[in-house]
Amino acid sequence: MVRRIAVVGSINMDLVTQAPHFPQPGETLLGEGFVTVPGGKGANQAVAAARLGAEVALVGALGRDAFGDLLHAGLRREGINLDHVQRPDDTTSGTASITVAGGENQIIVVPAANARVTPAQVESARGALAGADVVLVQMEIPLEAIEATLRLGRRLGVPVILNPAPARPLPAEWLGLARYLTPNQHELATLLGADPAEDFQVLLRRAPVPVVLTRGHEGAWYQEQGEPVHQHAFDVEVADSTGAGDTFNAALAVFLHEGLPTAVRKACAAAALAVTRLGAQQGMPRAQELDAFLAR
Ligand code: RIB
Repeated sequence: MVRRIAVVGSINMDLVTQAPHFPQPGETLLGEGFVTVPGGKGANQAVAAARLGAEVALVGALGRDAFGDLLHAGLRREGINLDHVQRPDDTTSGTASITVAGGENQIIVVPAANARVTPAQVESARGALAGADVVLVQMEIPLEAIEATLRLGRRLGVPVILNPAPARPLPAEWLGLARYLTPNQHELATLLGADPAEDFQVLLRRAPVPVVLTRGHEGAWYQEQGEPVHQHAFDVEVADSTGAGDTFNAALAVFLHEGLPTAVRKACAAAALAVTRLGAQQGMPRAQELDAFLAR
């Protein structure tokens, strides 16, 4: 059965520089390579879900510029429904300047068109959200649009996964509207107004809704009822961790109907495959590749 996923979120062009290490303030480094690749948390999650076999609709915004045209064409090639991607003509497309060094990354996002996603636009995509099995939303779009997505999902009875990245404090009431939160430890602490150094298992228990916590190379922890459960990470050689979280979220949404433990296991496996290539979307696996990896 084909799963239907609606994603409300950002679309960026990623400007990726490979460096021997991260520069210090005031330091000029000679880089090792540069690529321009599609990204943005919303677009990444949409692409990852589509490659895993889902029917995907994306709600977002792109500028009417060269990056916007390239990104639009790329998303269309992935088979994603773009009926709710608006193209305002007085702004540029979102960009992310990314430095990759030693498998880690540093990112500066300029939202540009992504800042134009409005509650009214989300409302106008009601049909796409109503027809979805799961809705995914992240935090590179305006807070009002995130709130509108959470409220519409609740009204329609469609589960919303809130991926609170990048971290910003949110009203506790909004968190309660999500079916799952999928933060890393720093994001969870920010959401709860807690100290990031606090034990993550304590933070998990304080969250108002079930949390699936990502822990990088340590895998993920999730808690629905009872004690938090650990899912180990899969061992791979990391080329670039950009987009790992997005692949994780997409796989979680696509496989949620198989139960949370299976969905989290598959999400960890999909994220592991995603980090083996440079660029957020390059390594995102197709369903058959994920199955083969899990069977090994
Ligand atoms: O999650 C990775 C994404 O974050 C990148 O593709 C970049 O565009 C930023 O939005």
